[in-house]
Amino acid sequence: MSTKQAVLERLVRAQQTGDAWVSGEQLATDLGVSRTAVWKAVSTLKEDGVSIEAVRNRGYALRETLDSLGEEGIRRCLSPHLRTDVRLVVKQQTGSTNDDAKELAEAGAPEFTCVVCDEQTAGRGRRGRPFFSLGDTGVYLSFILRPSWPLERASMITSAAACAVCRALDGIFGGFAQVKWVNDIYVDGRKVCGILTEAATTLESGGLSYAVVGIGVNVYEPEGGFPEHLASRAGVLAEQKEPGLRSRVAAGILNEFAELYRAEDFEGFVPEYQKRSMLTGRTVRVEAGELNGRTVRVLGIGDDLSLEVLTQDGRVERIRAGEVSLRVLS
Ligand code: BTN
Repeated sequence: MSTKQAVLERLVRAQQTGDAWVSGEQLATDLGVSRTAVWKAVSTLKEDGVSIEAVRNRGYALRETLDSLGEEGIRRCLSPHLRTDVRLVVKQQTGSTNDDAKELAEAGAPEFTCVVCDEQTAGRGRRGRPFFSLGDTGVYLSFILRPSWPLERASMITSAAACAVCRALDGIFGGFAQVKWVNDIYVDGRKVCGILTEAATTLESGGLSYAVVGIGVNVYEPEGGFPEHLASRAGVLAEQKEPGLRSRVAAGILNEFAELYRAEDFEGFVPEYQKRSMLTGRTVRVEAGELNGRTVRVLGIGDDLSLEVLTQDGRVERIRAGEVSLRVLS
């Protein structure tokens, strides 16, 4: 175990069993390291977004319970240039962060205004499905974009967001996150994140007025487990609560997305998206759209981000993202 992890565990224990304060000297003795090593570990934990108070002659104390989501923690983990650009609205509970962000966008809120919450009471997924968003378990966030792009290009936003989520999760948890075309993120064969992008167009130009990118990540297993209809598919990223973890996830996603979005070559993420496709080589049944009810084999993701499939009568077809849903058969 690293000194950082050991210091964190010791502070969590102190918070749970005593008055929360542990002196630097005590930590150094308990862990068999120098006081400088303790100080360094505390600094790194703070950089990771863990809220630790340090007081001369008293030592260190954890200033959050379990893993609370807070503006300060998220902002601390944002990359320096985003720290000033992102307008954060952090809520304990809301209906849907997508609805909140749309309301803010309609009122003129700038790009990268981001609503983050601990719990949604009316979280939505694609095709109007409810999105499970219990408190203390996940990260639910929506941010506003105002790209002056033609609509076709704007439809790539969801895929860019999927790549950004994968990068953030790989960076925080290790492993290799995959995309189930078009907007689900899977880790170890289980869905850990869903993305819902909603856009508003301007009547005059027919162009994009704004887009709201909504992302929901399952970080911890809910108490009592997932509801039955999700239990076989849904997965989580961490087994134990860790202070600052959900803030790191929220900030990590924003950091990675901003990097992709602001790149000179926005389409540059496409090869990575193609590599992360978990459907390639799999047999799926198409639900809705022109191939409704057909069983097809997925050949891959095209450069236009459509799904390339081989039908049972040997034809290669392209499925465009939209209201299509896919059931994996094998
Ligand atoms: C899906 O799995 O179909 C997409 C789920 C998107 C859920 C996120 S959580 C934050 C934002 N607010 C919502 O109501 N939905 C999105």
